[in-house]
Amino acid sequence: MSKRKIILDCDPGHDDAIALLLSCYSDELELLAVTTCAGNQTIDKTSKNALNLLNFFNKSNIPLAKGSSTPLVRKIMTCPEIHGESGLDGFTFPLYKEQYDYRKGYQLIIDTLLNNEEVTVVTTGPMTNLALALSHNSRIKNHIKEIVLMGGSTGEGNITKAAEFNILVDPEAANICFTSGIPLRMLGLNVTRQILVTDEVVNEASKIPTRGGDLFVKLMKVFNKNQRGFFGLSAGPLHDPATIVSLINKDVFTFEDMNVQIDISDTDQAGKTICSYNEPHNVKVATKVNVELYWKEIFKHLRRCK
Ligand code: BDR
Ligand code: CA
Repeated sequence: MSKRKIILDCDPGHDDAIALLLSCYSDELELLAVTTCAGNQTIDKTSKNALNLLNFFNKSNIPLAKGSSTPLVRKIMTCPEIHGESGLDGFTFPLYKEQYDYRKGYQLIIDTLLNNEEVTVVTTGPMTNLALALSHNSRIKNHIKEIVLMGGSTGEGNITKAAEFNILVDPEAANICFTSGIPLRMLGLNVTRQILVTDEVVNEASKIPTRGGDLFVKLMKVFNKNQRGFFGLSAGPLHDPATIVSLINKDVFTFEDMNVQIDISDTDQAGKTICSYNEPHNVKVATKVNVELYWKEIFKHLRRCK
């Protein structure tokens, strides 16, 4: 069976790091390119983290381009409270040579799409780069099989009552993607907040004798501590790998067809993903998750990162 081609646009970020690990070690996926966005930290930091991770996974051959340093129209917002000053506090990487693709993030997305068919674009951060790519070249639509994103929620947000971080940072970009007519799959807080990195999960992972297991445990210790302190959660939710897991194993998430609109106002509702069953459907929204199967997929891939 041929592998599913993906582009990953991310802002590592502890959970983005694990999404990238899965993308690199999955048998089902072919990772064509990686682009970074400003979100969990500034663009220089998320890019450095992505570079470190790709090298750590022995995948420095995969093109990696820095994306936009700001959202489309709003001021940049970062999240050091959860991801630390580096954006990936908890793990020290060897010193790798800095080598980024010469193109801007959105241009790498455009070129990669035009050179391929049926590509899935996965976003695990604010959707700025994909929105820029769509605005610069509408022909890329025909080359996208599907957009799969971590973001939004059918219920409450995490940064404001209304909004989830990735959508809140750049609602205008999300709006461009959600109204593009491209098939879209959304995995939001309503499912990802059920996937908690409990002490049992960390303990289980610490028995995995690979570099992937070690990376996971070290990152999750910091991530959990910050999530507990900042959000008062019992453990950190491992949001971003949900996108990749949903592509690898169809049995982990249940999706339902809905209408989703993005609130782009300047009110306290900004960034809300307004979900309804009654309007014309434009998005497949994850509504259920099999948590046990989720962790099986994560652990399987941590074992492969030797
Ligand atoms: C999202 O926000 C970021 O902090 C995480 O990496 C994830 O993509 C969760 O709201
Ligand atoms: Ca992220």
